[in-house]
Amino acid sequence: MTHVSDLIATDIGGYLRAHEQKSLLRFITCGSVDDGKSTLIGRLLYDSKMLFEDHIAALEADSRKWGTQGDSLDFALLVDGLAAEREQGITIDVAYRFFSTERRKFIVADTPGHEQYTRNMVTGASTADAAVLTVDARKGVLTQTRRHSYLASLLGIHHLVVAINKMDLVDYSEKTFLRIVEDYQTFAQQLGLANVTFIPVSAFKGDNIAAPSEKMPWYRGTTLMGYLETIEVDEQRTQRSPFRMPVQWVNRPDLDFRGFSGTVAGGKVRPGDRVRVQPSGRESTIERIVSFEGDLPEAVAGQSVTLTLADEVDVSRGDLLSQADAPAGVADQFETTVVWMHDEPLLPGRSYLLKMGTQTVTASVMEVKYQVNVNTLEHVAAKTLGLNAIGICTLNLDRPIGFDPYSENRDTGGYILLDRLTNSTVGAGMIHFALRRSQNIHVQHVDVNKAARGRLNGQKSCVIWFTGLSGSGKSTIANLLEKKLHAMGHRTYLLDGDNVRHGLNKDLGFTDTDRVENIRRVAEVARLMVDAGLIVLTAFISPFQAERRMARELVDEDEFLEVHVDLPLAMAEQRDVKGLYKKARRGELKNFTGIDSRYETPEAPELRLATDKLNADEAVEEILALLRRRGRLPS
Ligand code: ADX
Repeated sequence: MTHVSDLIATDIGGYLRAHEQKSLLRFITCGSVDDGKSTLIGRLLYDSKMLFEDHIAALEADSRKWGTQGDSLDFALLVDGLAAEREQGITIDVAYRFFSTERRKFIVADTPGHEQYTRNMVTGASTADAAVLTVDARKGVLTQTRRHSYLASLLGIHHLVVAINKMDLVDYSEKTFLRIVEDYQTFAQQLGLANVTFIPVSAFKGDNIAAPSEKMPWYRGTTLMGYLETIEVDEQRTQRSPFRMPVQWVNRPDLDFRGFSGTVAGGKVRPGDRVRVQPSGRESTIERIVSFEGDLPEAVAGQSVTLTLADEVDVSRGDLLSQADAPAGVADQFETTVVWMHDEPLLPGRSYLLKMGTQTVTASVMEVKYQVNVNTLEHVAAKTLGLNAIGICTLNLDRPIGFDPYSENRDTGGYILLDRLTNSTVGAGMIHFALRRSQNIHVQHVDVNKAARGRLNGQKSCVIWFTGLSGSGKSTIANLLEKKLHAMGHRTYLLDGDNVRHGLNKDLGFTDTDRVENIRRVAEVARLMVDAGLIVLTAFISPFQAERRMARELVDEDEFLEVHVDLPLAMAEQRDVKGLYKKARRGELKNFTGIDSRYETPEAPELRLATDKLNADEAVEEILALLRRRGRLPS
């Protein structure tokens, strides 16, 4: 290392060049609380003794946080500093630190936080090549050790090293070491983890971190640093996989060429290579690889480039460019692992946004097949997934996308799920394989269409979607409105909660999941009826904004009229026409809207009816006026 410092002093240019050419290893540290994770990171940083700020590496890692300590670092101070940061670190999800040795550059993602560890691990691990799992030699394999190992295997981290720490506190006992190794291996086999290395260390004393320990002559294996310096990094692996590039943006033809920009997510590409555009399936040949430094003869995984094609094929943002003779799959239904990261549980049937690579599509989980108990690996029956839960699900997208199984390519097989209203990340997932349905079910083209049916009916079909608390007056108003429309000669149909729940939806109750499914079916039926040319009235509590929005999006923009029947809870409860509020207050009726199940007030309904002030006739007049204003009825 003196050699390196000399080089910095005498030939900074030479040093930087050498440094630039070093490979980069990204790894995460995980393990249970108090087993010395901080000390271990501190020791790695300290022993590498080459800490400096490197802005290029920071960009590469899009790291949010990193160490800035200098050469004259005090080990104890460093560890204290890391611990203090962690304690204040309410906002630090994942702290990235950068260090370097003569052989390699490293970015370590430290994933603190006890509550949100699944989330932290998933974010920290999504680009990691290796995981260092710490185990306290005095405690052995714990529940958390198992949990983190499972997550690491799920996330496809190929190199796992178990650092059996605090060996100084067990007299550097080989027996203790071997017992823990044996224990762990039983579990690792169940997981199918093949590539596990065990190293006995003392992070505090420095044994087997950078230099072999004299205290453990019985151990002949590599030091932790030696291990990290020599394992194969993932980039080398992804460069051997077939070429993939999700298109980030398309240069417009007015820039004298049509180029497609993005980061190569797998394999390599050269001018003359045949590529397929997915999902469309069109093919062309790579003409040029354009970069800031001029045209390139080749681009490999990890590189950001602009490609031009020999033919004028249609390519848009979000499309996937694939090697033509080894293309990605194309599908809109998948079996997938979902890691749920939100307080509000995942609800099958609800639509979320799915982001994978450069594209965003609408997605919903059709079914949670089972949840995995990460401590025992048992499969547990589940209908929803709560915070930190991991489940195997079937997923449905609103259109086909190009993809690879996550095990083959993390970039084209891994995705995140976002809430559609708040845009916050609620889950992450890994695709296993496509379900075949999409290829087998086609949309049947029919000649008699909505407009034709509407003309025969002499009306423009639409949905009048009533929403509001139980007892707010939805059914009463809808009923009266239908009577008036009917008398005016219109063809109508009223879908009412209490009735539909006796037939089509008699299998559903009032849990959040069931309500989502209730509204999903009603919305689909309403869509069919609009297509049939009818004026459809729906009277359901429909308490969740997400599903009302889904219903809206199933029909054309001007065909959906949301009417909020707005009676304050206190008054609905006071009227209590069906006596249900009393029952709910007595605890005889669970999940009652407004009592122990929430109602999300519509933010921008087409109409709000304050039924504490309006009677049913007045309410109906307001709706008729709205229908005329919106051109659904002749004025
Ligand atoms: S929704 O939430 O799924 O849209 P929906 O409108 O179909 O509800 O059904 C609501 C009707 O079911 C209420 O008007 C009431 O008569 C009855 N009901 C029975 N149990 C409940 C409950 N737990 N919460 C709300 N309504 C209930």
